[in-house]
Amino acid sequence: MCGIVGYVGQELCAPILVDGLRRLEYRGYDSAGLAVHSSGKIEVRRAVGKLRNLEKALDERPLPGNVGIGHTRWATHGRPSETNAHPHVAGPIAVVHNGIIENHLELRRRLKEAGCTIVSDTDTELVAHLVHAEVERGKDLESAVRAALRELEGAYAIAVLSSKEPDRIVIAKQSSPLVIGLGEDATHCASDIPALLPYTRSMLFLEDGEMAVIEQGGAVVTTLDGKAVEREPRHIDWSPVMAEKAGYKHFMLKEIFEQPRAIEDTLRGRLDRANADIHGHEVGLSEEDAKGIERVLLLACGTSHHAALAGRYYLEALAKVPTSVEIASEFRGRDAVVRPGDLVVAVSQSGETLDTLVAAKEAKAKGAKVLSIVNVIDSAIPRMSDATFYTHAGPEIGVASTKCFSTQLANLLMLAIWLGRRRGTLDAARAGELVEGLAHLPHQMKDVLSGTRQLVANLARRYVEARDVLFLGRGLSFPIALEGALKLKEISYVHAEGYAAGEMKHGPIALIDNKVPVIVLLPKDSHHERSLSNLQEAKAREAIVIGIATEGDEAAREVSDDLVEIPAVAEELAPFLTVLPLQLYSYYVADFKGTDVDQPRNLAKTVTVE
Ligand code: G6P
Repeated sequence: MCGIVGYVGQELCAPILVDGLRRLEYRGYDSAGLAVHSSGKIEVRRAVGKLRNLEKALDERPLPGNVGIGHTRWATHGRPSETNAHPHVAGPIAVVHNGIIENHLELRRRLKEAGCTIVSDTDTELVAHLVHAEVERGKDLESAVRAALRELEGAYAIAVLSSKEPDRIVIAKQSSPLVIGLGEDATHCASDIPALLPYTRSMLFLEDGEMAVIEQGGAVVTTLDGKAVEREPRHIDWSPVMAEKAGYKHFMLKEIFEQPRAIEDTLRGRLDRANADIHGHEVGLSEEDAKGIERVLLLACGTSHHAALAGRYYLEALAKVPTSVEIASEFRGRDAVVRPGDLVVAVSQSGETLDTLVAAKEAKAKGAKVLSIVNVIDSAIPRMSDATFYTHAGPEIGVASTKCFSTQLANLLMLAIWLGRRRGTLDAARAGELVEGLAHLPHQMKDVLSGTRQLVANLARRYVEARDVLFLGRGLSFPIALEGALKLKEISYVHAEGYAAGEMKHGPIALIDNKVPVIVLLPKDSHHERSLSNLQEAKAREAIVIGIATEGDEAAREVSDDLVEIPAVAEELAPFLTVLPLQLYSYYVADFKGTDVDQPRNLAKTVTVE
């Protein structure tokens, strides 16, 4: 998983490419590189590690030129090194690539037999050699790329330069994302929208099996078989500022505080307050379909999987539909039972997570209808889905997902309400309560964020040295406990476990001593009394107990060492509020430890590998 960019125009391209890469660094940051047409040849600069290393290399040896490609890498084939960094060059050809070529072993063997000298461990260099071989046979760049692509199996978004055709870039896409940006005097391409926003809002999304020739005046899109593709550009109204830090120290903190806005945008136009219902046309199901669903199968990875776990509670409680939740990578290839009456819901921020994509495709092939809940417009999962119920969180740059998690919860709850109303399992009074509750959430979230920020930062400071942290919750608070633990692990590298509170006595209780903070989620809900008992059990083992409880909960106050309060809301809405202090806690622990909050080690935002 990597980020690629390209530029053809009149400006010096290196600073524009580097700027684009910076906005894509969330896709990986093991190494970076540029290839630019410069005085009749292609010049390359590459550097291991973060983008600033590449910038240093460019300061020392600038790259003049107006046409170029760039890459930020998350290593898949070959360790992070300068030799393995993109762009890869073969003769007059330079290539950047995001994805994985599955038949790389066979290609490597064949190319070696043909006398090629392969210098890196990457699959991408093989693509450069394949294109070079076609150019040697007399083809122009477009035809050479087209021919080389026929040899490839797997996933790719590539951008290719040839020193023989200095006015163009040839790009192609299969499974990995690629967007063309149509500027006034320049044409860009990139793996994702934020890299293009400062330059243009007019964007053309390539589909799988398509390629394009990019020149200063625009782009000509064709299929890999050479058929012309007519597609209107789309206007993307995300502002560049939305994709920047807006004064916060880190994207993650900004995104935590953006949640009220993200929820508001996600609810916009979907709450039918007059009829205690949800406007559900985006769900893509008829009233009959809704009644006929026999089972919902939720597929997701990471944080999205935790949202899906909460979704199961919503769907079972409100729509009375049997629901299972699967980690997408465990569902794949298991030959799981999927029936035509099943509704598969794929939940993904990026819409590109390979495991989720493939799992959804497998389920679809078995006859299920696929509805996706995705944040990134026109990404791979929406494109294969029967319908997509988008979250409108805007671009999420911090690798640790926050605002996308809460907007996923919102869509899952709206889906459950919509289904419940159609299936006759949710009466108007209860639905009305939830719809009104949703409408009030943004300002309640704002209050919780501003009201708890300092307290949570103090707690994080106090317990920053804790080596283990336990998060406990029951019912809807269980997935939130899992999410709290995941956040802490991801960005602060502290060992944390999320546990169903009732399971504590079956294992994790052995971990508890007076050095282990135990964060217990116990909003006033149907599980409250039992969660309180679990809190007491932890306290009796001398744990440091931090309660996240409803305002005025005196019992929780009495047993907790520290208490973080949230306003009283319906049980289904509590997760939107209880998750906020957990996100803040992990953020401040990481910040005090001085870790790289937005780009934690070994992680990447979008995981397009298995
Ligand atoms: C990566 C990210 C997580 C994300 C997960 C699933 O691990 O770091 O934040 O939850 O992928 O991604 P998706 O885009 O499918 O939600």
